[in-house]
Order: sequence, then structure tokens, then C-alpha cells
Amino acid sequence: MKKNIKILIADDDESILWVVERFFTEKGIAVTSAKNGVKAYELIKTNDFDAAVIDITMPGKSGLDILSEIDKGKNLPIIIMTAQGTMKNAIEAMRKGAFDYITKPFDLDELEVIVEKAAENKRLNEQVRSLKGRLKQKLTEDAVIIGNSRVMQEIFKTIGRVSPTDATVLIYGESGTGKELIARAIHANSLRAECPLVAINSAAIPRELLESELFGFEKGAFTGASEERHGKFELANNGTLFLDEIGDMSLDVQSKLLRVVQEKEFYRIGGKKPISVDVRLIAATNQDIEKAVEEKRFREDLFYRLNVVPIKVPPLRERQGDIPLLAEYFLQKFNNEMGMDLKSLSKDAVDALFSYAWQGNVRELENMLHKAVILSPNPILSRSDLATPKQRGAQKEPLEEVIYNRLEDIISRLEGKSAHELYDMILPFMERPLITLVLKKTKGNQIKAAEMLGINRNTLRKKIKELKISLKEAGK
Ligand SMILES: Nc1ncnc2c1ncn2[C@@H]1O[C@H](COP(=O)(O)OP(=O)(O)OP(=O)(O)O)[C@@H](O)[C@H]1O
Ligand SMILES: [Mg+2]
Repeated sequence: MKKNIKILIADDDESILWVVERFFTEKGIAVTSAKNGVKAYELIKTNDFDAAVIDITMPGKSGLDILSEIDKGKNLPIIIMTAQGTMKNAIEAMRKGAFDYITKPFDLDELEVIVEKAAENKRLNEQVRSLKGRLKQKLTEDAVIIGNSRVMQEIFKTIGRVSPTDATVLIYGESGTGKELIARAIHANSLRAECPLVAINSAAIPRELLESELFGFEKGAFTGASEERHGKFELANNGTLFLDEIGDMSLDVQSKLLRVVQEKEFYRIGGKKPISVDVRLIAATNQDIEKAVEEKRFREDLFYRLNVVPIKVPPLRERQGDIPLLAEYFLQKFNNEMGMDLKSLSKDAVDALFSYAWQGNVRELENMLHKAVILSPNPILSRSDLATPKQRGAQKEPLEEVIYNRLEDIISRLEGKSAHELYDMILPFMERPLITLVLKKTKGNQIKAAEMLGINRNTLRKKIKELKISLKEAGK
């Protein structure tokens, strides 16, 4: 017996129906037959056949009519039977989407091979379709953005409008406001959704490595380049490239990026032939990029190229109305993830949430509730179950905590990526602002600055040179 194949055979020549039906039934394939086109069309609409074998010329409705009228979403492979000498029709049949055609008189074994191929093809198509559906659903699920405040509603509208276009989007917002989530939502709702979204964070990658991460390199481009490597632009081809923290990009990489944006092509490091790519760009920054443009730290031309559609995500403290809904969403999410009893928030807990400063924005809220769900034995979370972060207007976070959180963020994003020499990468970020600020305070007086810093003058001079601190800038 054959594995569950169900076919339709339609012909006005009853002797053909009889032969074909008997042949396939013997092979264990279920056959339904139709004596004319109208009947065949009806049966197709109401049944789920694995394949249909249809005569091209039938009174009332021809095989070609059926091909034109059938709902393409039905995914039914149709095999057209033609009489000899009607090649024109055969071509027409294939053009209209027939799976195959066969000329009469035909060998039944030959028809059997075609029918089985058609049924297999239908099965594969269905699998692919369901995978694509699941993938799409997953992408959209991953990108749930909560917010009933007016600003967030406006942002949703912009996402909806901009998604199907290829316009470059620049997302502004403090850390933890949901910039990456928005980028993912734009991609998931775009025509590129089934192609990759590739993210690269300029702040988390040492400056010297950013260029090779973006553009890749040829074998032998530099010592250690033992294999050619594709950069993020190539990996994102046909999809979206999310450029996170663009404010941290060096001017050098900025010019190279500008070139790709303008020309849609680039060179791998050490490469001689240009590589063209079709990539949609979404960028994000938590810095005041317009100020960076004024101060010539960010190229103005690149800024205009990226800032085609700006989306400004306000900090959580400026849209407090979103807090209860976000809190409810996160509680639900953690409960589902952990298979726990549903926890809810007491009135005083909600009041507490309104009083916090939320310097870490939505991410901070998410983390706090996560901890509470895990640690609290109570089904209803009260104020005392919540960690107490800084109240609004209260003292700033201790320095160590600020640095700790920022580093934690950077390191969590490395995920085994090519960051070597973390010390050399991170320490200048601490030293440069420290020395610059002290020099500012002493109005550029290095003797006083060295004293304040508690290091000797020569060390200070060396540091200023090494860290490329501009004395003009610092002494202002
Ligand atoms: N509106 C929102 N609805 C649901 N979850 C949100 C929302 N905004 C942010 N989040 C969640 O908060 C966390 C931080 O969001 P995301 O990474 O998108 O922020 P970000 O702005 O890119 O932050 P950073 O600048 O630190 O990279 C994520 O876990 C995200 O799922
Ligand atoms: Mg981010």
C-alpha cells in the first residue's frame, strides 16, 4: 500500500478514467474521478488532494481554465494531459502553473512517477510554508513592544509605516529604553523578515576590530588573517544590519560606512574587488549625536544619511503611564517562562514602581521584576519584595555601580566575540575622562592636576600623550 496519497483524475473520456482509476487503486492510491471540468473544479475546492491529473480539453471548463481559476494558495500540483500535437497548450499549461504535463497516449508507470513526485512536492511545499510561518511568528513574538503612552503609540505607527520601506532609521534613546527591540520589530515587519537581521555594537568592539567586523578581510590581509572572513555587511545581505551605538564609531570607520551607504558596495580589508550588498540599515545611539556632529566627532554627511527616519524613544521616567502595563507584561512573561503561579503586584508595589527614577529604563524594570518573581515566596508582590533602586530625585548611583553596570553590559555583549585585550580596550575609557576632567578643573594646569590625581607630573604628561588628550579641549 502507498502512503496515503489522494488524487483527482478528470477527463471526459470515460475509458481513460476507468483505466487510470483501476491502475492507481491497485497501487493503493485513493482516486476520485470527475467526468467534466466543472465537477473537477468543485471537487478541488472542497477536497484536499495531493495531486490532480486533468485533461486539457473538456467541455464546460478546460484544464487550462481550472489552472487559471484555482486558488494558488491551495498548493495543489496539477498534471495536465494533452493530446499529441497540442504543444502550444502544453506550454500554456506550464506557464499557468501546471506541475507537469503528459501526452496521450501515455504509459501508466510514467504517470505514476509524475504523480508521486507531485505529491512529494506538495508535502515539501507545505513543510516550507509552515516553517516560514513559524519563523515569522517567532520573529514577531520576539519583538513585542509594550506601551500605551501616546509617545509609544506614535512610535508604533512610525514602525508600521517605515517597516515595509527600505528607509534607514536612526533610533535615539537612553540605555534600556528598547532601541534594539524597535529595530527588531522593524525588521520582523519588513519584506526582509525572512533574511537575517545582523547586529553590531560599536561600543562593545575595540576600535581596531570594528572595521574588520563590518567589512571582513581577505586571507593574508594582515598577520593572523589566515582565512578570508565575511563581515557583517555580507552576512546581512538581503536583510537588515543593525548598527548599535553608532556614536562610538571612529571617524575612520564612519567614512568607510558612508561609502557603503552611498555606493552600496565595499571592499574587504586587503580586498581588490568591490563587493555589492543589498542591506537595509537601522542605527541606534544613546548619545547626543547632533552634539557629536557639532563637535566634529561624527560626520555630518553620514548623520544625514542615517537620520532619514528618526525615532526618539523617551526614557521610562517620561512615560510613567507605561509602567503598570510593562510590569504586568514582564510578570506574565516570567511566570510563563518558569511555569510558576501567576504573581501580581499589590497597590503599594505599583506605587513604589512609580516613585523610582528608572535610570536603567525598561531593562531595569524588567530585571527588578525578574528577581522579585524568583525570590519572593508571596503570590502577590508588595513593595518590600521589590529591590529599592534610587528614588527619583535621590542621590546618584555610586560610581562603582555605574561602572559595574556599564561593563557588565559591554562584556555580556561580547559573547565570545573577538575582543582581545580587554584591559587595553576599557582602561582608556576610565583614564581619559578622569584626566580630562581634572585638567578642566585646574584650567589646564598640569602641576595642580598631577597633585589632584596623586600621580607624578611625568606620568601625567605621558598619559596625556598616550591617551591623546587634547590640552586645548581639557584646559577650557
Ligand atoms: N516597550 C517595551 N516592551 C517590552 N519590553 C521592553 C520594552 N522596552 C524595552 N524592553 C526590554 O528591555 C530590555 C532592554 O531593551 P533593549 O535592549 O531594546 O534596549 P536598548 O535601548 O537597546 O538598550 P541599550 O542602549 O542598553 O542597548 C530588553 O530585554 C527588552 O526586551
Ligand atoms: Mg541596545
